[in-house]
Amino acid sequence: MGSRARSGRGGAAALFVAAVMVVSWSAAGVGAIGANWGTQASHPLPPDTVVKMLKDNGFQKVKLFDAEDGTMSALRESGLEVMVGIPNELLAIMASSMKAADKWVEKNVSNYLNKGCNVRYVAVGNEPFLSTYNGSFLLTTFPALKNIQSALVKAGLGNQIKVTVPQNADVYDTATGKPSDGDFRTDIHDRILEIVKFLSDTGGVFTVNIYPFISLYIDPNFPAEYAFFDGRSQPVVDGSATYTNMFDANHDTLIWALKKNGYGNLPIVIGEIGWPTDGDMNANAQLAQRFNQGFMTHIATGQGTPMRPGPIDAYLFSLIDEDDKSIQPGNFERHWGIYTYDGIPKYQLNFGVPNSQIKRASGVKYLDKKWCVLKPTVSLDDPKLPDTVSYACARADCTSLGYRTSCGMLDTRSNISYAYNSFYQKNDQDDVACGFSGYATTTGQDPSTGTCRFGIMIEVDSAYSWKPRRVRSNYLLVLLLALVHLCVSSS
Ligand SMILES: *[C@@H]1O[C@H](CO)[C@@H](O)[C@H](O)[C@H]1NC(C)=O
Ligand SMILES: *[C@@H]1O[C@H](CO)[C@@H](O)[C@H](O)[C@H]1NC(C)=O
Ligand SMILES: *[C@@H]1O[C@H](CO)[C@@H](O)[C@H](O)[C@H]1NC(C)=O
Repeated sequence: MGSRARSGRGGAAALFVAAVMVVSWSAAGVGAIGANWGTQASHPLPPDTVVKMLKDNGFQKVKLFDAEDGTMSALRESGLEVMVGIPNELLAIMASSMKAADKWVEKNVSNYLNKGCNVRYVAVGNEPFLSTYNGSFLLTTFPALKNIQSALVKAGLGNQIKVTVPQNADVYDTATGKPSDGDFRTDIHDRILEIVKFLSDTGGVFTVNIYPFISLYIDPNFPAEYAFFDGRSQPVVDGSATYTNMFDANHDTLIWALKKNGYGNLPIVIGEIGWPTDGDMNANAQLAQRFNQGFMTHIATGQGTPMRPGPIDAYLFSLIDEDDKSIQPGNFERHWGIYTYDGIPKYQLNFGVPNSQIKRASGVKYLDKKWCVLKPTVSLDDPKLPDTVSYACARADCTSLGYRTSCGMLDTRSNISYAYNSFYQKNDQDDVACGFSGYATTTGQDPSTGTCRFGIMIEVDSAYSWKPRRVRSNYLLVLLLALVHLCVSSS
C-alpha cells in the first residue's frame, strides 16, 4: 500500500504487512473509508455510473452536500451509507421555521429511507464558520441544527440518524503548535461550544475537515514532509505523545479542545481529507497518491491517534473533479478528485479491498473526437488575442495553465488552444463555441502532450443535469463578442 511510494527494499515484508492490515481492516471493523460526492460540474457523470464506481472500489459510505433527487435515487438499494447535507443557503430558513425543517426531513430523509436509501447522517451546513463567509451563518447554524434534530425525532428517526455540522479545522487552534494547548478559537468559542454540547446531548458527532495541503499552500514555511505519513519529518513532541504527521497533530488538537471544555469523548468524523492534483505547484498526482495512500494505510492499522486510539471514520475529498467550483480558495479547487471528470483514476490507490486496483467508471459516453484550437495562421502579435483567451478562461477552465501545473509547459500557441478547447468542450462542442472572432478552428487531432490533457467532454444524463439556460447564454455572449470584434476590426 503506502510502501509503493517508498524505495523497493523490503518489498516482500511490506506486502505482508499490507496483507495483514487489509485482513484486520475488515476483521476489526476498522472504520470503512467513505468518499465525498460533489456535483458542481458542468458535465457530471450519471449518478448510476458514480454509484457503480463507489461499489466497484469497495467504498461503504458516501457524503453528499445536498440531497438532489438524481443522486438519492441512484443510491437506493446500493447498501452505501449516506450522509446527506443541508447547504448553508438553507440554514436561515431551517433556523427560523420548524415547518421548513420538518419538510426537509420528510422530503430528503424519510422519503428516501422508505425507498431503500441508507441515510445515516444529516450534515447541517458545510463549514459554516469559514472566515470567507464573514460570519453570515454564525447565528443560524445552531438553531437550524436544533430544528433538524427535532424534526428527526418527530419523524421517529432520532436514534437512527445522527446530526452533525462539518467544520473547517481552523475553528480550533493552538498557540504553541502542541496539540495539548489546543482550544476553540476565542472569537467563536461560545458558538462552537453550544453546538458541541448539543451534539453530545443528542448522540451526534463532531465532523471536521483536515487539509495539510492547505497548510502547505498558505504557509511557505510549513515543513512539507509533515503533511505526509511516511514519518520523515522532524517530530513534534507533546508530553508523552510524539507526532510525525500533521493529521494526527491536528486531530488531537481538536481532542484537546473538546477535552478542555468537558467533551473529551465526543465521537469525531473526518468529513473531508485529501490532496488535489493540479492548479498549484504542490498539487500533482504523485503527491496526491502519497498523501491519500498514506492516509488509507494509516487508518487501516486501526491505531488511531495518540489521543484517540482506535478506528478513524473518514471521507476522502473528493471522488471526482468538479469544473464548476469557485476558484476563490485557489486554482487547485477544481482538482481534488481521485478521478478526472470522466471517471478515470488519476493514480493507483488501494481502498482496503485485498489485491484491488482502482477501477475506472464504466460505460462513459464521450462527445466526438474533436478539439478546438488556435488557427496556425493567426499572428501571436494580434492585439485582440488576449481578450479571446480571457473570455474563454472566465467561462471555462484554465486552472491547469499556471506555473508548474499539468499544462504549465505549453508554448503560447498551445496555451491559447487549451483555453479555446476548454470553452468549446464545456459548451458541448457547439460550432459557435469554437469561433473566437475567427481565430479558432476545430481539429480531429488530439493536441494533448505530456501531462497536459486536452479533454473531450462527456455526454450528460439529460434527465439529471442538462443546463440549457446557461449554455444558451454562453452562446449569446460568444456571438456578442464576435460582433464586437467585427465592429472593431471593420472600423
Ligand atoms: C431537499 O433537498 C433539495 C436538494 O438540496 C432541496 O433543493 C430541497 O429544497 C429540499 N426539500 C425540502 C422540502 O426542503
Ligand atoms: C466578505 O467580505 C468581503 C470583504 O468585505 C467581501 O468581498 C465578500 O464578498 C464577503 N463575502 C460574503 C460571503 O459576504
Ligand atoms: C497561458 O494562459 C494563462 C491563462 O490565460 C496565462 O496566465 C499564462 O501566462 C499563459 N502562458 C503562456 C506561456 O502563454
